[in-house]
Amino acid sequence: MGIKMKILQTTRNELGIPLVGFGTYQLSNDQAEACVCDALNAGYRHIDSAEGYNNEEGTGRGIQAAGVSRDELFVTTKVFPGYKPWGSDEKSYEDTIETLKRQLKHLQLDYVDLYLIHAPFSELRMEQWRACIELKKLGLTKHIGVSNYNTERVQEILDAGLVAPEANEIEYHPLCAQVELTEFMRKHSIAPIAYSSLAPLSTWRVEDGQGGEVLAEIKKEAQTVINDLAKNLGVTQAKLLLRWGVQHGYCVLTKSSKPERIRENLNIFDFQISENDMKRLDQLNQNQAIAWAANGLNPMEVSAPLK
Ligand SMILES: NC(=O)c1ccc[n+]([C@@H]2O[C@H](COP(=O)([O-])OP(=O)(O)OC[C@H]3O[C@@H](n4cnc5c(N)ncnc54)[C@H](OP(=O)(O)O)[C@@H]3O)[C@@H](O)[C@H]2O)c1
Repeated sequence: MGIKMKILQTTRNELGIPLVGFGTYQLSNDQAEACVCDALNAGYRHIDSAEGYNNEEGTGRGIQAAGVSRDELFVTTKVFPGYKPWGSDEKSYEDTIETLKRQLKHLQLDYVDLYLIHAPFSELRMEQWRACIELKKLGLTKHIGVSNYNTERVQEILDAGLVAPEANEIEYHPLCAQVELTEFMRKHSIAPIAYSSLAPLSTWRVEDGQGGEVLAEIKKEAQTVINDLAKNLGVTQAKLLLRWGVQHGYCVLTKSSKPERIRENLNIFDFQISENDMKRLDQLNQNQAIAWAANGLNPMEVSAPLK
């Protein structure tokens, strides 16, 4: 996989996904409306949403307000599969179909570009996947995929003889480089979409209740290296981390509630990280997932037995 040509803001991956996406996790409905509109005005054309973010009405209003033509936009959203330990009911085939229909109303869209199962938490994940296949046939989504699926969970789908996921949205940054999983995905032509690219930074999820303090101590050494490399290149640490993902051939997702950071995070196409510096960043890998740690779990390690 990988992106061999010169990378531009308008470059898209093989599924037609713009390389930098605006993420909407931890935004209220009002923030989502303002920030999604700001992001689209700044030039983002890829929005990442989810049923579980409880802000799709705001995201829909933001998309409407920006007035970007639907053909130019790439909108991803996800079904929350249900998770028994959290008291959340597991979704059946029909529930999954109905969920996307409801989400489309909130988003004020006729279709999304990519629909994902948010995590492999449910015993019913195979029927949820069959529902995704049906949703694509119905034209309610252009592409289908999964999120937080490790090799075994993807293999379950392949072993059942079902259509393979077109994308897998996974945590990916220098502390969590997912080397084996991404190699497996490359072999099966499953596009990688990286979330929480900025997790190594000291500014990541610092507001009350956002959970950024969890595992903060494991980031210290990486922060020194990231700071040095960013200084040498004359870019911010956030830009360095996003560019690292893109140079590895990933689409990257990034969220901010602040207009100046929203613009900064898209502006990663006028510098390049050298091969040596890419290697220094690669060497920081600790196979450490951070993004869900405040919820007390690693979504890739949760696997209810199949029903
Ligand atoms: N599929 C999944 O399970 C999953 C899990 C996690 C995330 N995601 C998706 O991926 C998106 C991105 O992940 P994320 O929300 O963890 O976002 P992120 O972009 O990795 O980090 C966002 C955090 O970094 C701060 N930040 C943003 N830009 C910055 C900059 N230029 N300099 C310094 N700090 C900056 C933000 O603070 P401010 O907002 O205060 O600027 C926020 O606290 C999510 O929004 C969501 O769409 C998916």
